[in-house]
Amino acid sequence: MLFVKQYIRLRANVLLINSLGEVKIFTKPNTTMQPNKATHILLVKLIQQSLLIIATIFFTIISLIAILIYDYYSGNEKEVFLVKNIYTNSNLTISNQPQETFWQAADLNEIIDEELRQKVLYGKDLVVNTDKYFGVNGSINQSTNGLNCQNCHLDAGTKVYGNNYGAVAVSYPKFRARSSSIESIPKRLNDCFERSMNGKALDTNSREIRALEAYLQYIGKNTPKDLSVKGLVMKELSFLDRPANTAKGKQVYVAKCQNCHQANGEGVWRDDKKGFLYPPLWGKHSYNDAAGMFRIINLAKFVKYNMPLGASHDSPLLTDEEAWDVAAFINSQPRPHKATPNDWKDIRQKPIDYPFPPFTDTFPAEQHKYGSFKQMLVQK
Ligand code: HEC
Ligand code: HEC
Repeated sequence: MLFVKQYIRLRANVLLINSLGEVKIFTKPNTTMQPNKATHILLVKLIQQSLLIIATIFFTIISLIAILIYDYYSGNEKEVFLVKNIYTNSNLTISNQPQETFWQAADLNEIIDEELRQKVLYGKDLVVNTDKYFGVNGSINQSTNGLNCQNCHLDAGTKVYGNNYGAVAVSYPKFRARSSSIESIPKRLNDCFERSMNGKALDTNSREIRALEAYLQYIGKNTPKDLSVKGLVMKELSFLDRPANTAKGKQVYVAKCQNCHQANGEGVWRDDKKGFLYPPLWGKHSYNDAAGMFRIINLAKFVKYNMPLGASHDSPLLTDEEAWDVAAFINSQPRPHKATPNDWKDIRQKPIDYPFPPFTDTFPAEQHKYGSFKQMLVQK
């Protein structure tokens, strides 16, 4: 109240002074200041500062509301932060959508039983260092091409969409049309020994097969029975509208693969010459023509989401076309042959990209090898 009274008086003084032409009083406020004047200036300053504070608060609130509205309407999948987690080396994304969860291998450190632990660890070692046991200098036999299981089943068969073993524990024994039989895990392991590794099947009761089986059983023990978890085995890849092109694939190979896998496709041996630093993609040390990778759909999917080294399903480094074309080029190159007269006894069950006749359709073998698959699927 006191303030208001003084202010009114002050206003009157100022007016009076002004009408008498005594403007000086404004030019030297500090020296000739009356008590009322001082209050006036103080008050004006106070009001100015309050207004400034109110305006700042007002604009902050408006900006916050604007940001919230923008965020709400600019798509819910928008990633707000992308944080590299240094401990797990995985991308943690905090978004307004629930985070996607992918298959994860069970943690080997949680095995309490010592006997099981040793068995499982041996199984893992066989996947990672297969060449040590079965390679050109193998301690058990020297029957394989020198590859490691891990070369194709990445991160010891635990990588999301890296041709992992996540589905094995819950899906075997299962019927496989290739052999027209119910296959156990040991039988399936031996398939890869004979084809991908171009080697010999092991005794299904051997310590090695048992250890491999224990490892696969263990890492897949939390996989849901209906396989309703993302990231298992390999990720889908769209078909092209044209056949995959080996000439274009060679260009991709030279530009993006040759550095490691070499111009002759035969990879790079380690210094100890007992195994590979960079595995071969064709030639006598590669998978044979009865292997899963000889089917272009498998190879293109694997390459798209895993190669060049460092690629992953959420950060692929090739376009779909590049993946198909380079897969065509790789599978057009020479490699070991394996006769498999007992494969696909029921020829109606042959996968579309199995390139050996007889077929139930009239498409040539060439088209079964390279596509176009879109056209074949439409007519099937
Ligand atoms: C040259 C690449 C390559 C190598 C090396 C390789 N595999 Fe495979 N493996 C594959 C492909 C491709 C598939 C999927 C084939 C398919 O679906 O037709 C596969 C499938 C499997 C499966 C079945 C997976 C499932 O979900 O049904 C098992 C088990 C397996 N491999 C074990 C092994 C073991 C053990 C080794 C080493 C001794 C090995 N593989 C080496 C390429 C390879
Ligand atoms: C920086 C080196 C590097 C480059 C570049 C690279 N790879 Fe690989 N590739 C590897 C290594 C290392 C492995 C084995 C991975 C492991 O054991 O973990 C591999 C494995 C593979 C395999 C499965 C194993 C085999 O021998 O059959 C295929 C197929 C493959 N690469 C294809 C490609 C293609 C196609 C490209 C080009 C688009 C490519 N890679 C580029 C290093 C490389």
